Amino acid sequence: MASLNQAVRREAASCTATAEQPRAPRHVALIMDGNGRWAHARGLRRLEGHSRGVDTVREILRASPELGVEYLTLYAFSTENWRRPKNEVDGLMNLFRYYIRREADQLDKDGVQVRFIGDSSRLAPDLQCEMAALVERTRENRRLVVAIAINYGGRAEIVDAARRLAEQAARGEIEAGEIDEAALTGALSAPDIPDPDLVIRTSGEQRLSNFLLWQSAYSELMFVPEPWPDFTADAFRRAIARFAGRDRRYGAVAG
Ligand code: IPE
Ligand code: IPE
Ligand code: MG
Repeated sequence: MASLNQAVRREAASCTATAEQPRAPRHVALIMDGNGRWAHARGLRRLEGHSRGVDTVREILRASPELGVEYLTLYAFSTENWRRPKNEVDGLMNLFRYYIRREADQLDKDGVQVRFIGDSSRLAPDLQCEMAALVERTRENRRLVVAIAINYGGRAEIVDAARRLAEQAARGEIEAGEIDEAALTGALSAPDIPDPDLVIRTSGEQRLSNFLLWQSAYSELMFVPEPWPDFTADAFRRAIARFAGRDRRYGAVAG
């Protein structure tokens, strides 16, 4: 009897522990905005802001697994960012190169699987090679999956997926009537990555700027005032704690 009581008590304790566990977002997508303003406020060049932003990426990656985050998507360069001055675009591309070369060993050691989403065909061939090598090298890592969005646009991604399905239909591989949400999801760039639970944009702007338009249909959105270079692991922890208090209803009645 004593052992039954103990077992019941143990069970109750473990239930309480589970109930009190804050709900972690499995997938967090980050719109890393505000590098330019951060630099401008300090009398620095915009590229200095981007370079400080890399330090934030490092800090957020390190904090993610212990916060229960399994997937991170980082918006690094949009299809619209080509409109920026050539020296800023070149500087950003050099920063991506530098990041991949410098961080590859550490990322691999930390069990990070790196993926890239977006149209890489417009990037310099040597950068494309470095990206492909990093993806290959970290393919088996499971501690954290990081998708880096470079030359990424949500609309372009949906158009590509639609085109791929149309080509399959034209070849007679699928029926047009079979195309449903699952089929379109399957034709996107990373169909194995679950939809983001939480999208955070730094620097106070409140828009998606063409980021994960399909995948964020039911994501919680959070806009924080800090520019990306000032977004610390603590700020990330606070955002995740706020997420735990959100009531995700998916169109149903509040429970
Ligand atoms: C985000 O910072 C980084 C990229 C878009 C590449 P910004 O460069 O947009 O910084 P702000 O918005 O001008 O401050
Ligand atoms: C969105 O930021 C793109 C990235 C963070 C890479 P932008 O600074 O380019 O977005 P807008 O122009 O303010 O909408
Ligand atoms: Mg911006």
